[in-house]
Amino acid sequence: MSAVTSPLDVETIRKDFPLLSRTVRNDKPLVYLDSGATSQKPTAVLDAEREFYERHNGAAHRGSHLLSEEGTEIYEGARAKVAAFIGADENELVWTKAATESVNLVAYALTGSVKAGDEILISELEHHANLVPWQQLAQRTGATLKWFKATPEGRLDFDPSLITERTKIVAVTGQSNVTGVITPLAEITRAAHEAGALVLADGAQLVPHHKVDVKALDVDFMVFSGHKMLGPLGLGALYGKYDKLDALPPFLSGGDMIEIVRMEGSTFQAPPMRFETGVPPAPQAAGLAAAIDYLDGLGMDNVAAHEEVLTARALEVLTGIKGVRILGPGTTENRGAAVAFEVDGIHPHDLSQVLDDQGIAIRVGHHCAWPLHRALGVQASNRATFYLYNTLEEVDVLGEGIRYAQKFFKV
Ligand code: ALA
Repeated sequence: MSAVTSPLDVETIRKDFPLLSRTVRNDKPLVYLDSGATSQKPTAVLDAEREFYERHNGAAHRGSHLLSEEGTEIYEGARAKVAAFIGADENELVWTKAATESVNLVAYALTGSVKAGDEILISELEHHANLVPWQQLAQRTGATLKWFKATPEGRLDFDPSLITERTKIVAVTGQSNVTGVITPLAEITRAAHEAGALVLADGAQLVPHHKVDVKALDVDFMVFSGHKMLGPLGLGALYGKYDKLDALPPFLSGGDMIEIVRMEGSTFQAPPMRFETGVPPAPQAAGLAAAIDYLDGLGMDNVAAHEEVLTARALEVLTGIKGVRILGPGTTENRGAAVAFEVDGIHPHDLSQVLDDQGIAIRVGHHCAWPLHRALGVQASNRATFYLYNTLEEVDVLGEGIRYAQKFFKV
C-alpha cells in the first residue's frame, strides 16, 4: 500500500547531518539529491569514527595490547551488528572495501568452479560493478554470459527459460541505481536454486533503503556498501551463506587470512577471515555500526515509507513538466527512490550545471549502467535519488530548477 504521509520527522533528522545545513554556489541552501552515489553522514557516525581514533586506535586483530584488543572488539562488534541488520549470522559477513570489491571477490573465487560451456546469468539493469566482473569471469573460464533484458519501463524482464542446468551463477541487482526498480529477487532465487545455480544479489541500492532479510530472500551472496547507508567510505560488505563462503578459495592474500605459513606453502582461515587482508578498517566499521544504530532507531520500514512519499511527489512533479520523460516506472509500485529522467532539448550535463548553480545536486551521465541506458534508448540521463533526510520541498525545488533550466535554454 502506498504511504501518503511520511512517518519521519525530517526537520529533526536534518539537524543530525551537519553537511546538510551548508550553503553552496553564492549562499544557496544545498539540495542534496545524490544519495544513490553516496549518502551524507549523521554526527553519530562522525563521532564514532573520531572516537575510535581518539581512544582506541590500535591495529585490530594484530596485537595483544589493550588498544588492539579494543579495536578488535569494536571491529567484530560492528560485524555482528551489520550482519544482524540483514538477518545474517556474524560469520557470514565479510568486510571488503566496497560493494564492487565484494562482487569481484566472488567472481574471482569462482574461477576454479566455472568451466567452458557453463553459463553466467546477469541482467541488462546491472551497474557495471555487477557486470564487468562477470564478463571477466566468462573470459577467464570460457563460460557464456547471458542476461535478462530490461523492459521498456526499465524493469527486469524475468524470463525463467534463461536459467538452465548449465547456469552456474545468477547475479542481479535488488534495486536499479537508475530506474529505482525493485527486482523479484526471491522468485529469481527460487528458479536459480531449482536449476542448481548460485545467486548473488547486488544490494548496494536496496539495503540502505529497505528492510532486507537475506535468509528470507534465500540468496547465496549479497553485496552492499557502507557509505550509501550513512556510514563511512571505504567499507563494503559481502554476505554469503556460510557453506557457500567456505567453499570459496581466498581472493586477496597475505595478512591475517592465513592459518599456517611455511616457505613451501600456506593454509587459510575459515570465513569470514579467509577473505580479509591488511590492517582491518576498524574506525570505518565503528562508523558503520553507528549508522546501523541510526537506521534502526528510525526503523527501516519508516525509512522506506518516507522515500515512497518523496518518490510519489517526484513522479508527480516531473510528469507535470512538459518535455520531461521519466526513465522507469511512473508509479511507486516495486520501485525505490531513484528517479531518472530526460528533459527534451537539454543535455544532462547542461541541466546539471544549471541545477548546481541553484544549489541542487543530482547525478547525470550513464550512472555506471551504460547497457541499461542503451536498452532505454538514451545516451545519458539525469537522476535524482532521495534518502531519509530529504524533504518534499526539496522535490519541489528540483521541479522549479528544471523549469528554470527550460527557460534558460529556451526549450
Ligand atoms: N553507484 C553509485 C551511483 O549509482 C556511484 O551513483
